Amino acid sequence: MTDIHNQPHFQKIDNPKARSFKGNEFPIAYILERSQDTNSDSILELLKSKAKSGFFTDALRKNGAILLRNLGTTNPEVISKYIKAIGEYSNLKLFDQNGTLAQRHDITDVLTTANEGPPSNTLYQHNEFSRFTDYPTTLFFVCTKYEQGKTKGGNTPIVHGGELFEKLKAADLKKLDELARRGVYFKQVWNLNSDNNTSWRDKYTFGRNIVGYDEKGETFWKVEGLENQKLEAEKIVKDKVSPLFEWDSDDNLVVHQHTKAIKSYEGKYPVVFSSLPTFYASIARTSRLAGRTDLIRYGDSDTEYIPNDFLDLILDTSIEIHFG
Ligand SMILES: [Fe+2]
Repeated sequence: MTDIHNQPHFQKIDNPKARSFKGNEFPIAYILERSQDTNSDSILELLKSKAKSGFFTDALRKNGAILLRNLGTTNPEVISKYIKAIGEYSNLKLFDQNGTLAQRHDITDVLTTANEGPPSNTLYQHNEFSRFTDYPTTLFFVCTKYEQGKTKGGNTPIVHGGELFEKLKAADLKKLDELARRGVYFKQVWNLNSDNNTSWRDKYTFGRNIVGYDEKGETFWKVEGLENQKLEAEKIVKDKVSPLFEWDSDDNLVVHQHTKAIKSYEGKYPVVFSSLPTFYASIARTSRLAGRTDLIRYGDSDTEYIPNDFLDLILDTSIEIHFG
């Protein structure tokens, strides 16, 4: 007879710092109970069967985020197998990243670095690619480099978009309503040349069909000639990012993005789904995006800026209610 407690299994754990939204913990936390010699294959089987049963999908719908502890590895190859098992058996599709403003590199076929800026940079709340027409529904955050006692920082705080909406509604209903009605307009520039892999020809901006990498990691052009390369980039811009764009006289790509900042979560409740806090912070409180992102305007106006006091409120509220 097999004793269930000898098999690896997830046990719900207390998460005292969790936020609470509509009575549900954000995030909900589980520890993987396992013996010292549990191998990655048996963990993989557990993840597959839990995913098949809807464990991850249901928890994400209800809680918004799941924290898994004690998976016992920082090996990116093993973690990638775990992610693929959860994703595939939860019926998720792999998302291609396009239009990033941060330098990213592949770690495995499903993992990339998220940001390679100095540790002193704080990135504030944003919904990944939310200012574009195509964005992911589910994100995995993992740690692939960790040294006990030495590693500091690197944590990824998260914010519940439903809680952010409720807090802003209580603080300034009028401006929130105006934001919901009018949406957001971002104007952003991807230069022809870049010193941190964020030219429009790079893989994770608009260049996945333009640039390739050989076995040595050297880059080569899949498509030769600037005009042909522009046509390839334009396909991705139109398809995934925004129908409105132009090329300036220096062959830099200028993209106009008109999106909603408030969305309905599966028809259940409104959420703030935007990149406002991080872009506002990067523009107003640091000069990190100088020349790359214009001040943020209402979506129905080329000239009317969202007031700074409201953007301050959104940013400060997102900091106040973060987890992690
Ligand atoms: Fe991000």
